[in-house]
Amino acid sequence: MPDDGTTNDLTPTVFVLYGATGDLARRMVLPAFFELAQHGLLPDDWRLIGSGRGERSDEEFVEHVRGSLEEFGPDPDQGPWEEFCGRLRFAGGGFTADDPGELVDAVADARKELGEDAQLVHYLSLPPKAFTDYTHALGAHGLAEGARVVYEKPFGDSPEAFRELDAVVHSVLDEEQVFRIDHFLGKEGTQDLHVARFANTLFEHIWSREHVAQVQIDVPEDLDVADRADFYDATGATLDMLVTHLFQVAAEVAMEPPVSFSADDILSARESVLKHFRPLAPEDVVLGQFEGYRELDGVPDDSQTDTFVAARLFIDSGRWRGVPFLLRTGKRLSDKQQRVSLVLHRPKGPVHDVPPNGNVISLSLAGAGSLDVDIMAKRPGPDLAMAPARVSLDLSKVPGGRPLAPYVSLIHDVLVGDRSLFTTSEGLAQTWRALQPVLDHRPEVHSYAPGSWGPVAANALAGEHGWLLGKTE
Ligand code: BG6
Repeated sequence: MPDDGTTNDLTPTVFVLYGATGDLARRMVLPAFFELAQHGLLPDDWRLIGSGRGERSDEEFVEHVRGSLEEFGPDPDQGPWEEFCGRLRFAGGGFTADDPGELVDAVADARKELGEDAQLVHYLSLPPKAFTDYTHALGAHGLAEGARVVYEKPFGDSPEAFRELDAVVHSVLDEEQVFRIDHFLGKEGTQDLHVARFANTLFEHIWSREHVAQVQIDVPEDLDVADRADFYDATGATLDMLVTHLFQVAAEVAMEPPVSFSADDILSARESVLKHFRPLAPEDVVLGQFEGYRELDGVPDDSQTDTFVAARLFIDSGRWRGVPFLLRTGKRLSDKQQRVSLVLHRPKGPVHDVPPNGNVISLSLAGAGSLDVDIMAKRPGPDLAMAPARVSLDLSKVPGGRPLAPYVSLIHDVLVGDRSLFTTSEGLAQTWRALQPVLDHRPEVHSYAPGSWGPVAANALAGEHGWLLGKTE
C-alpha cells in the first residue's frame, strides 16, 4: 500500500529497462524504481527485465542493481530489498530487429508469471542515437502492441533528427503509447506552477500581460562538465537545456487554463501554447563559453560549443503578447538555482516609489521546491516607509505528502498511464520551429569567467529589471 494510505490498483507490469547496465539507469532509473517500491507505488506484482548487450545471470544483475543503490541511493536496506530483488531479471544478447537476444523469451516468461493481461512498459535508457533501431526492433518482435514506451531526452538533437525519429516512432507506435521524458516537467515545483495558479484566484487573476512585466526562467549551474565533456561538446547549453527544459517550463507558465485537471487536458493546454512561441531572433540570444572549457579532456582546442545561453523569448498569445520571457542557463556560473519568476508591473495607485522588482511571484524548482512572493511591506517603526519583504512556502512542508524526485514521479506516471507531464510530437516540432533562426544564424560565442553570471552581453536582454538572480558587473 502507498505510504500516504491510499490504495494501489496498478496493473501488474513487465518493465523492460534497455541500457540497464548503463550510466543513466544506474544513477537515475534503478534508484527511482526502488524508491517507488519504498513508497508502495509499484503494482502489487511486477518484473523488471534489464536488457543489455552482455551476458549476465539474473543473480549478477541483482548484484548490479544493489551496487547502483548503494552508490546512488536509496539505501537498499532501508526498503523492501528482499522482495524487490526477487522480481529482477536479465535478458542479455542485445536487442535488434534481426536478433532479439534473450528478451522475447524473458518477456514471455514474465507474462506467464504475471498473467497475460500484464502491461508492458519499455524504458529506453539509451543514447538517443539508439532510439531508432530499438523502436524498429520493438515493432519487429511484436513487443510494441499495447505497450508504453519511454524515451529519454533528447528526443532528437536537431530538427532533422527529431523529424526522422518521430516518423519511425509513429510507424511503430501510436502517440498515446509514447512517453517522452523532460524531467523538469516532473519537478514538484514545476507541477506547483499549475496548481498554485489554477487553485488560487490570488494568482490566476494576475497571470497575464496586464499584470506581468516579464517572466524569468533562470537555471544557473555551478557545475562543470568535465565528467561528460564528449557528450557536452556535441550538445551545448542551447540544445541540452534551452530547447528542452527551459522551453517546457516556459510553456508551463504560459499555458491557457486547461479545460479540467485531467492528464489529457493539462497536456494539451501546455503543449498548445508552444505554437505561439515566436521564433527566437538571433539578436535576442546570447551564447557564452566559460574560460578554461577548451582545456577539458575531450574538448577540441577550437570548440565553439556554448556552455551558456540567455534568450529573450516572446509568446504571441493574447495573454502574453509583448511580455519578454527571459531564459538563462549555463555551467560554471556563480550559483546553482532553478527559479521561475513573474515580475509584476509597478502598482498604478498612490504609491510611486515601488522598485521595479518590488512585486515578484516566484517558484524554485530545485529539490522539493518553494513558492515565494516578494512584496513591499511597511517598514516597522514610526514612519510610513516601505521595505521589500518575502513570503515563502517550502513545498515539502505542505501537509500530508512526501515530495518525489522527478524521475520517481514520472516513472509512476508511466505506470498509471498519465501523460500530463510528458512532451508530445506536435509540441516538440514547435520548439524546434521556435529555435530554427538561432540554428540558421548562430550568434557569436562570448567567453566568460568561471564563477561569474556569464557574458556581460546577456545583461542587456533583461532591460530595466535586470536578471533577478544576478548579473556580471
Ligand atoms: C540535464 C542536463 O537534462 O539536466 C544537464 O543534461 C543539467 O546538463 C541537468 O545539469 C539539470 O538537472 P537537475 O536534476 O539538476 O534539475
